[in-house]
Amino acid sequence: MGPMADYWAWTLAQPLQTQMAMLMGLLVVTVLFLKTLTGMLNSRRPPCVGGIPIIGGFLKFIKGPLPLMDAAYAKHGSVFSVNIFHKRMTFLIGPEVSSHFFKANDLEMSQKEVYEFNVPTFGKGVVFDVDHKVRIEQFRFFAEALKKNRMRTYVGMMVMEAEAFFDKWGDEGEVDLLQQLSDLIILTASRCLMGKEVREQLFEKVSELFHHLDMGMLPISVVFPYLPIAAHRKRDWARAELSKIFSKIINNRRDSGQSEPDVLQAFIDARYKNGTGLSDDEITGMLIAVLFAGQHTSSITSTWAGLHMLAHKQMVWPQAEEEQRKIMKTHGDELNFDIINEMDHLHCCVKESLRIHPPLIMLMRMCQKPFTVTTRDGKDYDIPKGEIVATSPCKAHRLEHVFKDADKYDPFRYMPPRAEDKATPFSFIGFGGGSHGCMGEQFAYMQIKTVWSVLLRKFDLELISPLPEPNYEAMVVGPKGPCLVKYKRRNL
Ligand code: HEM
Repeated sequence: MGPMADYWAWTLAQPLQTQMAMLMGLLVVTVLFLKTLTGMLNSRRPPCVGGIPIIGGFLKFIKGPLPLMDAAYAKHGSVFSVNIFHKRMTFLIGPEVSSHFFKANDLEMSQKEVYEFNVPTFGKGVVFDVDHKVRIEQFRFFAEALKKNRMRTYVGMMVMEAEAFFDKWGDEGEVDLLQQLSDLIILTASRCLMGKEVREQLFEKVSELFHHLDMGMLPISVVFPYLPIAAHRKRDWARAELSKIFSKIINNRRDSGQSEPDVLQAFIDARYKNGTGLSDDEITGMLIAVLFAGQHTSSITSTWAGLHMLAHKQMVWPQAEEEQRKIMKTHGDELNFDIINEMDHLHCCVKESLRIHPPLIMLMRMCQKPFTVTTRDGKDYDIPKGEIVATSPCKAHRLEHVFKDADKYDPFRYMPPRAEDKATPFSFIGFGGGSHGCMGEQFAYMQIKTVWSVLLRKFDLELISPLPEPNYEAMVVGPKGPCLVKYKRRNL
């Protein structure tokens, strides 16, 4: 008997369960082989980054997406794929190829499948745990909570928090900017989003619970969000505790008829088209989702904004001071929504930090309707249904044909006549864009510009540690290492 006959004789001698398992294994390997073969034969499929199919790309990917993207872009250009287990992830890098990613609606390109790992953190019944019709309505609630007329009130709260916070600094000293600005942004976020009950009475308790939610969001949680590990158990406990705390606050507000000018109230008052409202637990989930979207992204961008301005002091600082002086001549010490909107130079400085160091380095969708993408040099690639599609602000922001001297910090690139970000839509994607562009963009700019207006007016500052590298291992990418700044109180 030949070896194959031996193999089949041995197989048939195994118990039925083992035979079934072996058959399933064979089937999976065959399907994967055929999929790879079909991919290779279809010349309109994007080129695939080298490595053994199935796990090759994944191994490179988890070592850090940026080196992989750099190498793949250099070799293959703006459209390329990576094999991640049995799935392909296709990257679209640059405004010419990423416009469909941003413009498509949820039925063409969906977020749910790729962002579903957030469900245990946000909770059931909200955002990525509901079907697309309900999600559209819930995203309308986010939009209403963050709209311009509410923003005016939030800015008042941001100014109050920032002034009180920096009043506690001494006359001179040294601080870690990331630590300080993270502390301040949590205070502002709790007042504007969670409301005065949390800010004034429950701040420590709620911050601790949010810390457990944060710690429960590990890189492994993206692939296995329900893995029974200690960090996930603490996350689930903290989520349940938050629901109890918010339920009490919501019921107190309902019983007393009290209404507050915060995001919590916007969610309490929100109504679906059929007239029903959100449950207490869903309101808690919506609040957690907004906090996750806005907190680390804002504290990191506030920090980078300051670090870059101080590292390029001669280039941008005198003009930033002059802008404040000019505004103070007209408005005195006051800071409000309209006054902050006048600060174009500061705005460009913040925007340039976000271009160089975006905190969200990879945005993803699941392709639900096949499409063809055409590159700058006229190549067409077909993207089939079921493929994960990604784009990357950190790579797209460094393309030389989009931003001149792309590695150079240069806030003046946004000002007319240069306006480099405006030449092609979706060139600047620090806040994403299109149908799912950031709803908190204005909130974030207001918050960051408030912080830096107060600092510019009240302190002389100097960067005393080197400009840090970004920490690409974190889910929200911030500066790695100390961000030490020396300050001396003064009046501008
Ligand atoms: C500098 C700070 C911020 C940055 C860099 C940032 C960045 C982003 C990006 C890139 C997206 C798009 C994600 C995607 O396409 O998959 C996004 C979406 C979103 N952001 Fe922000 N964000 C910031 C601050 C905020 C703040 C402060 C809030 C709320 C207070 C917020 C609320 C949202 C919401 C609700 C979405 C979802 C929009 C949708 O999917 O339709 N963000 N943000």
